[in-house]
Amino acid sequence: MRILFTGGSGKAGRHVCRYLRDQGHRVVNVDLTPLDEPGIDNLRADITDAGAMFNVLTSYAGLDELDAGTGVQGYDAVVHFAAIPRILIAPDHETFRVNAIGTYNVIEAAVKLGIRKIVFASSETTYGVCFADGRVDPHSLPVEEDYDVDPMDSYGLSKVVNEKTARTFQRRSGADIYGLRIGNVIEPDEYRTLFPGFFADPEQRRRNLFCYIDARDLGQIVDLCLKTDGLGFQIFNAGNDTNGMNLPTAEILARFFPGVPVTRDLAENEALFSNRKIRDMLGFREEHDWRAYVPKEAQ
Ligand SMILES: NC(=O)c1ccc[n+]([C@@H]2O[C@H](COP(=O)([O-])OP(=O)(O)OC[C@H]3O[C@@H](n4cnc5c(N)ncnc54)[C@H](O)[C@@H]3O)[C@@H](O)[C@H]2O)c1
Repeated sequence: MRILFTGGSGKAGRHVCRYLRDQGHRVVNVDLTPLDEPGIDNLRADITDAGAMFNVLTSYAGLDELDAGTGVQGYDAVVHFAAIPRILIAPDHETFRVNAIGTYNVIEAAVKLGIRKIVFASSETTYGVCFADGRVDPHSLPVEEDYDVDPMDSYGLSKVVNEKTARTFQRRSGADIYGLRIGNVIEPDEYRTLFPGFFADPEQRRRNLFCYIDARDLGQIVDLCLKTDGLGFQIFNAGNDTNGMNLPTAEILARFFPGVPVTRDLAENEALFSNRKIRDMLGFREEHDWRAYVPKEAQ
């Protein structure tokens, strides 16, 4: 497929772009800074500029496309990751503005140009625990996609608004628009640099509900979204099968979430940030379990 990818230079995006390229897709990265990666073209543009989003979607994918003399070919899909990825990077109103207006612009341009598949990055923070003021427990566990999302911060709010924006454009257009509530993204080297510290102090993972998504497995999830048509508007948790913690799920529940209702039986290490929907509806099969990468002596 011909894919326009926003935010491909970032932590998550560069792994997902590589994965998509390796699956044989043509990927053009739209970002404020380019990604230096063979086989991936770049266009520098700002998602908060509505005209720029229409323009990049009606441009050639690269200089090589000039030779055929057949004009601009257009895109089959848009994957939208560009964002300010948490609070306390920019002022709160700026985080909200870039994320909410940027997502509106990307989805509107894609839909109005007739693109029938859009995948966008939402976030685990919509569940309201991650950036809460003080200690906030989830209403129930595991968190699944039908949860009444209720963050109290500008970043989480921007992602909730983006899900509504996507749903609105899906209703108008009938296109497939899938939002991924992405868990805490882990790059390959972070199993070694971060996980031993997580295991020494599990409390620091409570706000993330102990979730993680391997950046390469996230690539698989995005690819599955691109390949699976006809689902209309969907929200999917994007996480790995088990908790990113060396404690059984029952112990995590007892120690960190006492009193939180548990809505179904859970396997020994099953993730509290449930990925059941992507396994059932998209056929996701995890390839990168943390146990294969964290040094054995730290496990
Ligand atoms: N990293 C995580 O753990 C995590 C978890 C949940 C959701 N997400 C979401 O996944 C997506 C990617 O996150 P990330 O961790 O790779 O973030 P990142 O900051 O590493 O990457 C974001 C990219 O977007 C680009 N960008 C920012 N503002 C832009 C603008 N106005 N116009 C064009 N490009 C712009 C940046 O240059 C950057 O390359 C984001 O939507 C983020 O909210 C990330």
